[in-house]
Order: sequence, then structure tokens, then C-alpha cells
Amino acid sequence: MTHTPDVALALELGPDLELALAMADAADLITMDRFGALDLVVETKPDLTPVTEADKATEVALRTMLAEHRPGDSVLGEEFGTSDGSTARRWIIDPIDGTKNYVRGVPVWATLIALVVDGEVVVGVVSAPALARRWWAASGTGAWGRMLDREPVRLQVSLVRSLNDASLSYSDAVGWSAITATGLESLLNTTWRQRAYGDFWSHILVAEGAVDVAAEPALGPWDIAAIIPIVTEAGGRITAFDGRPALEGGCAVTTNGVLHGSVLNLLRSDR
Ligand code: IPD
Ligand code: CA
Ligand code: CA
Repeated sequence: MTHTPDVALALELGPDLELALAMADAADLITMDRFGALDLVVETKPDLTPVTEADKATEVALRTMLAEHRPGDSVLGEEFGTSDGSTARRWIIDPIDGTKNYVRGVPVWATLIALVVDGEVVVGVVSAPALARRWWAASGTGAWGRMLDREPVRLQVSLVRSLNDASLSYSDAVGWSAITATGLESLLNTTWRQRAYGDFWSHILVAEGAVDVAAEPALGPWDIAAIIPIVTEAGGRITAFDGRPALEGGCAVTTNGVLHGSVLNLLRSDR
């Protein structure tokens, strides 16, 4: 059996990361097959956000792989909810993060796959095939990223020490006022550079050291689970705006670690 470079590396890193990377390979085939299709089927969910046939087909395929390879584990997916298991292990899946981009032909979207054991996210894979990029981490392995078919590189957050020198990324201005009156404005006014790269990409750029602060005010666990070990293993910090674990907080702020306290103070100071 031959493996992609990611899978060959994962063989040394553990069977759960190996499986998660194989799941990402399967997801990439489905999502790329329908990306840009003129007859892509798009529906509107009850929360008025779009979902495509590719979101659903990807989640079904990943759940099928988990049922075969990890039948006792529970699964939480954005599109099909929770399947209970018999172990303390839960897989969390966002089949396409950035569906609005996917629908419009913008290549910034990714499949997010995470494994949580006893409340800790121990595996995370973010696969963005339209960018020809993938990032992954497991507890204690470091965080890794690959571009095209180049060798994987180890991720490391930036060394920027002052918010005045920091590059900020977020998704958009929606949802901030519900949890912080002037938090976004304060971040925009305090940082050196501001760009809304959006979705998973804001946080992954922090793990890569390309951005120093990323923040989003309204997230589900599937939006952030896979990102947690990648940021942490790259030396960064990720929490909710109030410092609680990001998986439970409904929002997330990611930093290079050095800046985390300053950013939380800034987000807290106006509530
Ligand atoms: C969205 C993205 C985005 C966040 C939204 C989510 P989706 O996910 O994660 O960054 O701001 O709240 O709904 O719907 O494209 O998977
Ligand atoms: Ca998402
Ligand atoms: Ca999604």
C-alpha cells in the first residue's frame, strides 16, 4: 500500500492522525469534484446559511469511514448532528468551512476534522484543496503544513511582542456587538495591519506565523475544534473571548501566545 506524504508521516505519528488524514483525502475528492460546478445544488438551512450537496456528501463519507474504522466513537458533524458512541472519544467534523466562499467560487474553504478524547482535542486536520494546502497536528507532534506536493514544514507562531506591531485577521463585522461593545473597533485601532482573511484561514495563518491575532465572535465547535491542536502545537494560544476553552465558548481568539493577555484585556475592557 502506498501513501501520500501526509499519510506516510502520520504512520509515525499515530493511527488516529493517520485516519484523519485519510478522511481528508476522501473529503478532498468529493469537494473538489463539485467546486465550481454550474449545477451545484445549494439549499438554505433554517439559520438562513447555505449548505451544498458537497457539504452533505462529504460529511456522509466521513461518517461512513468512522463507522467502519472507529465504530465505538461518537461523532458530531455540522450537517447531521450527533451520533452517540460507547467510548470517551468524539470526532468533530465541519465538512466545508467557508461554504459561502465555496458556493461563489472563492478557494478559501476547508474540511475540518478533529478528535476529542476526554474533553481535549488531540488531533486536528484542516484540508484546503482549492488552495493546495493542508495543515495538521496531534498532541505532542508539533503542527505541520504542506503546500502542493512539497515536503511538510513545521509550523511556528510569530515572535511579535506588541499589539501595535501585530497583524489582525477576522471574518467580518457581524456578531461582535452581541459579546463585546467595542472589541472589534479596539482591535482594528490597536493593531498594525488588518485583513479579513476569514473562516479557518485567519487562525491557521496565526499558527503559521503569518498573522499574529485572529478572532471570531460566533462559532460552533465544528468551526474551531480542528484548529485548536494546530495552533497550540505551533506555540500559540486559542481561547474564547473570556479566556474559557475555545471549544465551549462559542467564539475564539487565537494569538501567538505573547499577545494573548493583551488581546483578552482589550476584548474584556468594554463589557
Ligand atoms: C462559518 C465560518 C465562519 C464563521 C461562521 C461559520 P461555515 O462556517 O466558520 O468563519 O464566522 O460563523 O458559520 O458555515 O462556512 O461552515
Ligand atoms: Ca464552519
Ligand atoms: Ca460548514
